[in-house]
Amino acid sequence: MTIPNIVRFRTTTNPVKHGIMVCLILLQCQITFAQQGIGTRVVDIVGNRIQIVMDGSVLKPAVITFLNAECDAVDEVSKKLNQISKKAERQGLVFYGVFTGPKTAWKTVSEYASQNRFSFPVIVDGDENLTRLLKPKTVPEVFILGKHGQTLYQGGLNDIDNGMVAAQRNKAFSSNKETDEKCPLPPFDNPIETPAYHQHIAGLIQANCVECHRQNGIAPFHLEDYVQTRNFAPMIAYVTKERIMPPWKADPGSGHYLNERLLSDHQIELVQSWVKQGAREGNPNTAIPPLKVSTSEWRLGPPDIIISMPEPFDIPASGPDIYRYFVAEDAIPKDLEIATFDFKPGDPSVVHHSNFFVDYGKKARKMAAKDPKPGFSVFGTGGFFSYWDKDNTAGGLGAWAPGGNPIRYPDGIGIKLPGGADFVFEVHYHPTGEKNPGPESAWNLPCQ
Ligand code: HEC
Repeated sequence: MTIPNIVRFRTTTNPVKHGIMVCLILLQCQITFAQQGIGTRVVDIVGNRIQIVMDGSVLKPAVITFLNAECDAVDEVSKKLNQISKKAERQGLVFYGVFTGPKTAWKTVSEYASQNRFSFPVIVDGDENLTRLLKPKTVPEVFILGKHGQTLYQGGLNDIDNGMVAAQRNKAFSSNKETDEKCPLPPFDNPIETPAYHQHIAGLIQANCVECHRQNGIAPFHLEDYVQTRNFAPMIAYVTKERIMPPWKADPGSGHYLNERLLSDHQIELVQSWVKQGAREGNPNTAIPPLKVSTSEWRLGPPDIIISMPEPFDIPASGPDIYRYFVAEDAIPKDLEIATFDFKPGDPSVVHHSNFFVDYGKKARKMAAKDPKPGFSVFGTGGFFSYWDKDNTAGGLGAWAPGGNPIRYPDGIGIKLPGGADFVFEVHYHPTGEKNPGPESAWNLPCQ
């Protein structure tokens, strides 16, 4: 089986503040935010997936404003919301409008958002997850969450300016001002009685499952619409209850991590109740639109640079696992500052994981030259790379494993790659027992 693997980069125009070590530390460190378990994934009314607080692995404080299209008090302030959201953006905060309460149909919200020309992400809290996490008592009510998920401000829109100023410094602010006119919300204490797919379930499936369970996704079946989801309903109840899906190895009680995938207890109970009551469809008018997924074969869109494995490597049908380094010589065309990268295995069925290195000392190519096959095998990083060696002339860039997200560094942070350096892929292969499918399947990859 011939298997070229390729990695892609997007360069940044932002100034790069830190080098390789900082980026690696950022990837590995535990992010302890979210006493409330925020970091939760949602979809907005036009089908974008959002991870609140940890949006695309960029930690930014979030302004979450609870709204409802049937409340007059919301009508009065809705003209101001675009202004507030722009101000939030200028201050380095992200602004979300969350429609909550009974009768929150996507269609109504969508019409309301277009009438008011909302320019910020609008979320319909169909499964009531955000509402139950933050517990607003009225609409409109604002929560400003710090970059660790803690509530820094809770109150009306009338004192939000002071709240945002404090949040910039990650400080809490409590307002003495009388809050705006408002509409009370019912308490969200009891389980949702008769859950239906369109109103309560579709959003959580789209936000947490469809990135893999879709056409061309890595999962074996799709969960993109009602019929597909209903067909797997009993299995979905099982895998969510056991926390097998969405896949996430860390114990939910062990702190919070970058790119975490977890359903809340409320969401898991909701799925159980939906399945137990016959996996009802409900009213399609309350449906959210299909999730927007990148149509590019690369998940962050077309890359600026693609580096391919220099030559294919044959994997036998059976035998022990193989660890091998491959060197793309002179792969870095000029000095670059890297903001994001993604990886595509030539044949996902045999690639267990891959690590990437930039080798500006060009030692790895000498090791490859001594081996008659493509690349070379050594234990660990033996020979061309060491963090501890003061004469080290190579650096680790990151890693990929199945189901992993593309790496995107926080704003202003990236990796400098020196022009002319070699690029090294270390790949762990696991032969599957399958016969060699031939080279054509392996080269079915976009290359610039
Ligand atoms: C990161 C990718 C990813 C996400 C996110 C994900 N899945 Fe999966 N899912 C997979 C893969 C891959 C398999 C196949 C696993 C296997 O064959 O061993 C799978 C298998 C399943 C199965 C079959 C289990 C079995 O025993 O065969 C169900 C049911 C399922 N997923 C439901 C879900 C639901 C529901 C969600 C969201 C709450 C979800 N998945 C999120 C990748 C994902």
